[in-house]
Amino acid sequence: MRRPVIAGNWKLNNAEREAVELVTALKTNLSDVDTVDIVVCPVFTVLAVVHDVLLESNIALGAQNVYWEDAGAFTGEVSAPLLKEIGVEYVIIGHSERRQYFGETNQTVNKKIRAALRHGLVPIVCVGEVLEEREANKTFDVIRRQCEECLAGLNADELKKNIIAYEPVWAIGTGKTATSQQAEEVHKFIRGLLAKMGGKEASEAVRIQYGGSVKPDNIADLMAQPDIDGALVGGASLKADAFIQIVKNSCAVTR
Ligand code: PGA
Repeated sequence: MRRPVIAGNWKLNNAEREAVELVTALKTNLSDVDTVDIVVCPVFTVLAVVHDVLLESNIALGAQNVYWEDAGAFTGEVSAPLLKEIGVEYVIIGHSERRQYFGETNQTVNKKIRAALRHGLVPIVCVGEVLEEREANKTFDVIRRQCEECLAGLNADELKKNIIAYEPVWAIGTGKTATSQQAEEVHKFIRGLLAKMGGKEASEAVRIQYGGSVKPDNIADLMAQPDIDGALVGGASLKADAFIQIVKNSCAVTR
């Protein structure tokens, strides 16, 4: 059975003081959780200090981006070996905000996934349609293209190591969550695509998170779906109480 994974995407929030306060509260209140993986993804500048707070805890560290080259004349970039060196284990790749504001494409996502895998980081690969695409009934086409291009050239073993986050862009930060049925329909479709790309065994191993206005009161419904294996949480991951409750409510779901 796939082990659920709940990740907090802090985006561009939380300077050192807030970051330490938040993870200290998570560490204290979630210490007895042993049925889901918990990840927090702070901004680069506080990764090291958050890592120190999280030592000896059941909470892992993720970054929000990575560059595909290891080193060289690439001003302003951060590479996978540098993240690995300070204890980062996961990395969000291809978030819709990076696609929208920073020119991320399926091709750059593919290079970043390969770099992450080369250095033993777990990619959290984001896919999702915008509202116009959903309204034009293009959701499945968009998701197919994103999955095929982002994961191109990976063998079954490499494929298995990814987490996919399905995040309908219209649900991010808007308070509009996809219904659990809408989400499950896409998750199931993604698992079918993965099976075509890497075989059934790999597709059954990949964890597919839902993201987009996940809150303590909708997580249980989402997690009850057979192909939803956790969540990528934005806004609600900034508040200790809400994130703790999301993790606890997800543990309570029998899968
Ligand atoms: P949200 O963000 O939970 O605030 O909708 C999710 C995300 O962007 O990963």
